[in-house]
Amino acid sequence: MAYIVPKLTDFSPAALDAAVQQLLSALNQESSAIASENDWKAYRDRWMARKNGVLTQLNDLWLKAAPGPNKKDVGQRVNELKGKVEQTVEDTLAHLMSDAASYRLAAERLDVTLPGIRRTIGAEHPVIKTMNEMIGVFRNLGFSVEEGPEVETDFYNFEALNFPPNHPARDTQDTLFIAGQSEKPLRDRLLLRTHTSPVQIRTMQKMKPPVRVVCPGKVHRNDAPDATHSPIFHQIEGLAVDTNITFCDLKGTLDHAMKAMFGSNVKTRFYPSFFPFTEPSADVQISCIFCDGKGTRDGGPCRNCKASGWIELLGCGMVDPNVYGFVDYDASKYSGFAFGMGVERIAILKYGVDDIQLFFNGDIRFLEQFS
Ligand code: DAH
Repeated sequence: MAYIVPKLTDFSPAALDAAVQQLLSALNQESSAIASENDWKAYRDRWMARKNGVLTQLNDLWLKAAPGPNKKDVGQRVNELKGKVEQTVEDTLAHLMSDAASYRLAAERLDVTLPGIRRTIGAEHPVIKTMNEMIGVFRNLGFSVEEGPEVETDFYNFEALNFPPNHPARDTQDTLFIAGQSEKPLRDRLLLRTHTSPVQIRTMQKMKPPVRVVCPGKVHRNDAPDATHSPIFHQIEGLAVDTNITFCDLKGTLDHAMKAMFGSNVKTRFYPSFFPFTEPSADVQISCIFCDGKGTRDGGPCRNCKASGWIELLGCGMVDPNVYGFVDYDASKYSGFAFGMGVERIAILKYGVDDIQLFFNGDIRFLEQFS
């Protein structure tokens, strides 16, 4: 029940004492019930508002009503009460605030002795790591990096690379075709690129010689997965076109790259081969890194090179002049070389991995060995 200021008729000290006591106990009781800032504001106004607050009422109902001889005593008591009310109202607010602060402190309590959460740092996938390492080797030789789309047109994947329509060389590519393309002209039909060589064409359409680029990326083939095949794998393509580029430049560049990748003891060998977009073409073999090119290991034939001492690693050649016809390069003025290598194959050799599927299964016990 809210306190109501009584109208005084008895102004004897005993009666005044009682009235003051009653007022103070009401003041304290109301103070202890306050739980929010809004409660407190209402409390303050009830007791201290100029218009009709308890203090104002004391003036009217007690002081002004007091007969002359009692005025001084009542005046003193009312003054004291004024001080007490103001003090109590102020203390009530301070109390409320310190309660709120300690609630917040309790809620935000932090146990600094709890063990922390350790998040392990991710690492490059061994295929990407190998790819970046290889790119680094060519960057140091002045090559820059170009990329192209994985969904390609027949034109870029085949035609401009000198695989004419229906040419049997297309059969070597085990192509995955995108469905519903038969209404389009052949060269616009979509497929999943089978090699990174289309980026050669896209690059030559974009820039004039001198061109020196490597093109890393994912490629797709209709191959059943086994220890040496995967329907998705990665290649790095290389292309250099300028005036007076010769087969010697190709040999020197790849010999250097293989030594940078596998160690300076490694030898390279260029073996005649065929690709539609290079002429002449070659397969590059490196001396076997497992038996040092000897062909024998631990008293028996080396299994890694089938006792030959050589491991076949990549394809290359001098850019076929027919290709320049598709990109408006003057074949009488420019010459160039190209190469393409499988990244997984290099990683397999470099790290001694015996199953290509390990790269794609996502087994953390395998992958973390490369971090
Ligand atoms: N694109 C070929 C393939 O995946 C690899 C290749 C061979 C790329 C010779 C070249 C090259 O640039 O000159 O089968």
